[in-house]
Amino acid sequence: MCGIVSVLSRNDGIIRDLIDCLSRLEYRGYDSAGIAYVDKNSRLCVKKTIGKIASLEKIIDFNEGARCRIGIGHTRWATHGEVTIQNAHPHTSDEVAIVHNGIIENYESLKESLMKDGFVFDGVSDSEVVAKLISYHLKKNNDFLKAFQATIGQLKGAFAIVAIHADYPYMLLGAKRGSPMAVGLSPDSQRFYIASDAVALSSLCHDIVYLDEGDSVVCELTDELRYRILNSNLEVVDRQKTRNNVSLHDVTKNGFEDFMLKEIFEEPVVAQRVFRNFKCNVNVADYRSIYIIACGTSYYAGLLAKYWLESLSRVHTDVEIASEFRYRNPVLSRETLYIFISQSGETIDTLSAMRQVKNMGFKTLAIVNVEGSSIAREADECIHTDAGFEIGVASTKSFVAQTMVMLLLSIQQKSRLNIDGITYTMYSILNDGFVIKALAERIKDKARLLYLGRGGSFPIALEGALKMKELSYVSAEGYPSGEIKHGPIAMIDHQVYSIIIAPDDYYVGKTIVNAREILARNGEVLLITTGKVLANLHDLKKNKLVDHILLKDQWEYSTDPAVDQLLRSWPYVTAIHMLAYYVAKARGLNADQPRNLAKSVTVE
Ligand code: AGP
Ligand code: GLU
Repeated sequence: MCGIVSVLSRNDGIIRDLIDCLSRLEYRGYDSAGIAYVDKNSRLCVKKTIGKIASLEKIIDFNEGARCRIGIGHTRWATHGEVTIQNAHPHTSDEVAIVHNGIIENYESLKESLMKDGFVFDGVSDSEVVAKLISYHLKKNNDFLKAFQATIGQLKGAFAIVAIHADYPYMLLGAKRGSPMAVGLSPDSQRFYIASDAVALSSLCHDIVYLDEGDSVVCELTDELRYRILNSNLEVVDRQKTRNNVSLHDVTKNGFEDFMLKEIFEEPVVAQRVFRNFKCNVNVADYRSIYIIACGTSYYAGLLAKYWLESLSRVHTDVEIASEFRYRNPVLSRETLYIFISQSGETIDTLSAMRQVKNMGFKTLAIVNVEGSSIAREADECIHTDAGFEIGVASTKSFVAQTMVMLLLSIQQKSRLNIDGITYTMYSILNDGFVIKALAERIKDKARLLYLGRGGSFPIALEGALKMKELSYVSAEGYPSGEIKHGPIAMIDHQVYSIIIAPDDYYVGKTIVNAREILARNGEVLLITTGKVLANLHDLKKNKLVDHILLKDQWEYSTDPAVDQLLRSWPYVTAIHMLAYYVAKARGLNADQPRNLAKSVTVE
């Protein structure tokens, strides 16, 4: 689930590369890290730490490691076993070291039989069986490659694994089942890398190759570096090279305190870019219905799209969370277009749901931000959301890109949109960031938050609550404002803080009534609305229980008033993202890497 890096080199000094690659993978979120390498005396050396790469660097002797040419590294996001040094990767057994992303589902039975054979385990993670199993096979046939292949053949689950052996300092082995893996040569052909994503290899490899499902890779250093990719039948195959287009701009903060803040500031630019470059062969009107499947923020992008698809294209639209869809045995139809939305393009729930639909022969369209990712490659059609690489674990600018793509699919004619109006509102939110920052100071100690909205504001409310939960660890719920009287209003007292998204749209009068219902029960309210709406609400302006973020909704978002109405709430997402960011900062938390989360969720 987290990060893998590895290198085999014709020259010395690879430890720096390993550490730099691991640092670039920090954005994915992790709890411990480690490296293993074969030193100049052909000894296997392992360094592991709990916490950050900076602490790993402190325990590495760069002089001692200066002469080594092969090594592997890992950032762990624990799934099996606590965050301890024993459970951190790399795992070893005799002269073998491995790193692993994902989950080995049958590790318990494998472990049991290995223990019967006398193997002793240091920790309790699923990954450790991989190292021991390679050792077991080596004892039988003493061939590293064959032992590796026999091991991979016995594993069940979704994983990416890389292995080295101290007696084979010229051989780097990798295998991919379900979790992503990218390989590449340095431009001077001196170093070969295997990593879990393109970011790890940015500035090291111009071109990379993404392994296909079931592939493995063997890299050997003889007179030169040679690598071959094998498919699941162990036949040598050619896989297409892609340009590694992760830029330095993407992986640096450019003066911002955090990647997340930088990425929120990119939201209007991304909206413009997606609008300008949008091209698509798919016409939603050709289908009887649309089925959108996704997770987390991408799911909320789908929910917002439902309002647009049904109103603008009049195509019936269902939206479902991928982890539910895939085990539910849903009724599918040939006349439906199945849309899978994913920033990373690697989310295992979304990928598995898509494979299920594809296997049944139905049409799949992916809306994906990471080019070359598994979902992008396997879908029948793919639209690249072009938000630029997103480093913050929380999705921000990619939500804007996803929803812009969905809007353009729904509206079909670009000319019906006034993109400048939409981005004007986003820019004005960014300019007034200090207001949101000041409010965050007030909100930071609230125990419970309720996000409310009607129509298109409802998915924005859900997105707001998710961002607040994941960044600030505060209990936050998103609800349709009209629904609170059916239950949640019972919670309202002076301890509940309600954040109400109330753009100047068709619903605003009703949303304000819901705000009043909360105020009548002593609940505090934050109104995110416009000066024009508030101007007519004199009592609310003076009410001590009411805070506001006032937006400058002066522009129209479409020349068609009906379309304009549908879009009123959409740019408010920038304010919602900023609020979550500043509350996390006010609580002294790491906004880029919230605890327990990972950027790319390749486990179930
Ligand atoms: C968003 O802030 C979250 N980190 C998370 O919900 C995310 O949207 C979800 O895991 C889906 O990821 P994907 O878009 O890469 O498929
Ligand atoms: N399941 C493994 C573990 O808990 C790997 C986790 C990961 O992908 O980082 O160690």
